Amino acid sequence: MQHRAQEVIDLCRELAGFTEEPGHTTRTFLSPPMRDVHRELGSRMEQLGMSVTVDAAGNLRGFYPARTPGARRVIIGSHLDTVPHAGAFDGILGVVMGIAMVDALTSLRMPFGIEVVGFSEEEGVRFGVPFIGSRALAGTLDETLLGVRDSQGVSAADAIRSFGLDPARLPEARMADNTLGYLEVHIEQGPVLESLNYPLGVVETIVGQSRLIVSFIGKSGHAGTTSMDLRRDALAAAARWITSVESIAQSTPGLVATVGRLEIDPNARNVIAGSVRASLDVRHSQDTIRHQAVDRMLKEAKQTATDRGLKLEEQQQLDQPAVSMDATLVKRLAQAVKTAGYPVHHMSSGAGHDAMILATKIPTAMLFLRSPGGISHHPDENVLAEDVTAALNAGMHFLEQWESHLD
Ligand code: GLV
Ligand code: MN
Ligand code: MN
Repeated sequence: MQHRAQEVIDLCRELAGFTEEPGHTTRTFLSPPMRDVHRELGSRMEQLGMSVTVDAAGNLRGFYPARTPGARRVIIGSHLDTVPHAGAFDGILGVVMGIAMVDALTSLRMPFGIEVVGFSEEEGVRFGVPFIGSRALAGTLDETLLGVRDSQGVSAADAIRSFGLDPARLPEARMADNTLGYLEVHIEQGPVLESLNYPLGVVETIVGQSRLIVSFIGKSGHAGTTSMDLRRDALAAAARWITSVESIAQSTPGLVATVGRLEIDPNARNVIAGSVRASLDVRHSQDTIRHQAVDRMLKEAKQTATDRGLKLEEQQQLDQPAVSMDATLVKRLAQAVKTAGYPVHHMSSGAGHDAMILATKIPTAMLFLRSPGGISHHPDENVLAEDVTAALNAGMHFLEQWESHLD
């Protein structure tokens, strides 16, 4: 598997070159470089005897048939989109690993088909709404999504059309009724496995997340002539609020909260900011604690706006509950890791994953690979070839376990 592992890493690094921004890896939902990724991965899938399609949500889907026609299927996958200035492994590693696992079968057929899915969108970068790809498979994409616009004013429906796809066919993107379950292989994106010196982790739960837009609306004006007492500065208000978000998170065990993006209008050096749209991302393993924290943060925002004579608008984009992975598959995955000769470590995931969405519909399991330096959402993101070998070995044992437990 060692040679295969190096090929997986090399291919991920090569695909990181397909980007919207030269010199960085940035690949959002249905952007032109996504087509290049589809072409490269699609042709590898075809070489392995898989039939390849792109569904109306832009998911790349390769199907490796079972021994007998009409048999059930297993889905293996992850996402192909990235955050801005990303590394080479978040998401795409899980898709390339799925293809490598099919390759490792060396043309043998299983009693179930294997569908490798490269989800079109998980990060929520282009439309602020994450999990577009996996929600299409789960059948939980609502109509409102199609009308959501990106920062250029392009709607999701138009983005789908300009990629040559038909939004009216989204219902056909649903996964097959006879799907047995889903496996996602992903980098940990944190420091835990490295600190334990373990190559692999078996995910038990994925924390819940809230995503909102909080807008402070004040009044723009001349930076030189408007005295301080007459200002309604939206950016100063947002700044005050951001530090209170940080304090609430710091004083709530296990809670993380991030304001990672500001849209400032008019965003000029010598003009007082008239309005600020701030993103808010809040996560916790217990949904009630997360909801309470979001309420407190919104209360703070209202108070800050009132104190300064500003208007506040809020818009919820996501309230994704924490999810558990399937208990039976977790046991089997742990057994597969053990059989492959590696120590078993159960853990939870603070990052969101397509597995969160599929887990609400079908039995789902997730395998983490150690992240050197705990680094992710950063160009220095990395994986070790020995850990990719470990994941491939464990993944193949997992498929064998699935075979031996078929009813
Ligand atoms: C996705 O990577 C997320 O957790 O935001
Ligand atoms: Mn990510
Ligand atoms: Mn990811």
